[in-house]
Amino acid sequence: MDFVIRNASLADGRHGVDIAIEGERIAAVGANLPARGVREIDAGGDLVSPPFVDAHFHMDATLSYGLPRVNESGTLLEGIALWGELKPQLAQEALIERAMQYCDWAVARGLLAIRTHVDVCDDRLLAVEALLEVKRRVAPYIDLQLVAFPQDGLLRSAGAFDNLKRAIAMGVDVVGGIPHFERTMAQGAESVRLLCEFAADKGLMVDLHCDETDDPLSRHIETLAYETQRLGLQGRSTGSHLTSMHSMDNYYVSKLIPLIAEAGVAAIANPLINITLQGRHDSYPKRRGMTRVPELLAAGVPVAFGHDCVMDPWYGLGSGDMLEVAHMGLHVAQMTGQAAMRQCFLAVTETPARILGLQDYGIAPGCHADLVLLDAGGPVEAIRLRAARRLVMRRGQVVSEAPPMRASLQLPGRPESVDFRLTRKE
Ligand code: FE2
Repeated sequence: MDFVIRNASLADGRHGVDIAIEGERIAAVGANLPARGVREIDAGGDLVSPPFVDAHFHMDATLSYGLPRVNESGTLLEGIALWGELKPQLAQEALIERAMQYCDWAVARGLLAIRTHVDVCDDRLLAVEALLEVKRRVAPYIDLQLVAFPQDGLLRSAGAFDNLKRAIAMGVDVVGGIPHFERTMAQGAESVRLLCEFAADKGLMVDLHCDETDDPLSRHIETLAYETQRLGLQGRSTGSHLTSMHSMDNYYVSKLIPLIAEAGVAAIANPLINITLQGRHDSYPKRRGMTRVPELLAAGVPVAFGHDCVMDPWYGLGSGDMLEVAHMGLHVAQMTGQAAMRQCFLAVTETPARILGLQDYGIAPGCHADLVLLDAGGPVEAIRLRAARRLVMRRGQVVSEAPPMRASLQLPGRPESVDFRLTRKE
């Protein structure tokens, strides 16, 4: 074997597991494997997980915080306006450089697959060209999936649909949209129909920014579920954000969630951004704004957590840490039970991997040797500590390493150091 990791814990609760790697694949997983590795490391009971996956991101805007100015109101709409100010000034090389820097951060965080929306409401399609170049450059270490995203509205922005079609022809993977930003509810529903028909015709996945608003009557997710079912897009269709569901009437939602489940539509919440941007017009009580994650999960709807933004016109924080995303999602959704906290870990690993359609993902024989060794005994501790990534592996090669989190103490009669860990097994 090229590499053997001894005595690991897995996110499904198994402990004392060895993982043997041959070439770019996992060859064996089990207790006390007899295989010897050219290189062996002792996980010491720490968690080995498949890599983090971000199902919703905007890489064309990332790390542009403060350009050309800061979002003073902190609202979604000022963010969109600010991005509109920045767009004509975008230079391709600078955009590529910012995206490449973010991908460096992602690798160091064990984030090795990202679905990023890319704005197509610019006739030059400069950001599309730039992110296709980034996708090519990072392919050895990150699976980058691009969504053609008409930020200013498919119907509201002149030429947006033609640009979206051109972007798909250039190699963009997924059909995007933003129905709540169209001029009317009817136009929003029309955009959902057009986009789903286009996706069905081309055999593509569809992932719409859907109802990212506090308006309880913004119900494009209903249309998305309907069109998904009508056109046979089950399993290839995703509603991103769905924040209006937070504000909807409970009776209506009792009908809506089964329709989403029946249609096979996946959901992506973006906890850091939803808790920051939603409820901005409220005084008190102030709505949290994140979609109904536990209720969707209970109905069998796959729910992933996305990062959405890192240091861009909408959000001035973040560092590519999907454990920070899971941590916020857990709190906002009040998912504090043990099983619920584990679901939050899956929402940044296995669930988005399924939504993106990643092949051979997981810690099992035959899967890609892509993994993260965390400075934590299990998934809940990993979220609690936003644990250090001791080792990140891609296709059998170590691509990043970091020291575990430790602090020394100078206290009489107390230990010399702390690691914030409890020895209890998860
Ligand atoms: Fe987004």
